[in-house]
Amino acid sequence: MINIIFIAPPAAGKGTYSKKLEEEFGYSHLATGDMLREAINLKTPLGLKVKDIMAQGKLVDDEIVINLIAEKLGQDGKPFILDGFPRTLNQAEKLDVLLEKLAKDYIVINLDVKKEVALARIQGRLMCSCGKSYNALIPSLKPKREGICDVCGQKLIKREDDNEESFLIRYNSYLEKTEPIINYYSQNQKLVKIDASRSAQEVYQDLIEVIKW
Ligand code: AP5
Repeated sequence: MINIIFIAPPAAGKGTYSKKLEEEFGYSHLATGDMLREAINLKTPLGLKVKDIMAQGKLVDDEIVINLIAEKLGQDGKPFILDGFPRTLNQAEKLDVLLEKLAKDYIVINLDVKKEVALARIQGRLMCSCGKSYNALIPSLKPKREGICDVCGQKLIKREDDNEESFLIRYNSYLEKTEPIINYYSQNQKLVKIDASRSAQEVYQDLIEVIKW
């Protein structure tokens, strides 16, 4: 399977589709947001350093996330999905160096979603610490048992940064720092854009067609 890099605004569905692709095709799902949240839960020095920055919806330092990805990339020999990385041009350039060393090819998928649609989605999002994401307001994305993860049975929680104020900071940071990367990848002819404002089923169907090319 081809390696995937998701570039998308908050609540576009990066985590949702990464988990489905992991389950169905055996991808390794590398999500910098999940790695950082795990560090916060475990109260590691890294977690303590990034806790407030993440709660406010600001980006953490490039160096931190580049190191997290460099430690994991290609380690298990599976095809990988990068979810939430790269988010700046500097991260994209460093990633290209890493991928060249590992001789890994990839496709970049831009999940394009309207701001008001994304904002509505975070109001209902519930997360499990295993990384699976649900939505209490969307029938097809609800857990089978209220408040409990279908996969691991743990209690679902609301993310600390899932409020309108933090969402708007994340969304604006996407426009300012992450969207320019789309141009970087379109020059390398590695970019596919998918309309992610549609239902999760429709978007996933398109994703499968793209990766099976
Ligand atoms: P991160 O965890 O990456 O958050 P994000 O980019 O803000 O993205 P989200 O997790 O909010 O959205 P998603 O696209 O995964 O959506 P989901 O599938 O859950 O980053 C968090 C923070 O970590 C950053 O703000 C930053 O501080 C730091 N960080 C991380 N990486 C960094 C980096 N590289 N550099 C610097 N800092 C970094 O879906 C959302 C909801 O919608 C769910 O409820 C889901 O069920 C629902 N949903 C999904 N698809 C659909 C659909 N088609 N229809 C209806 N509902 C849907």
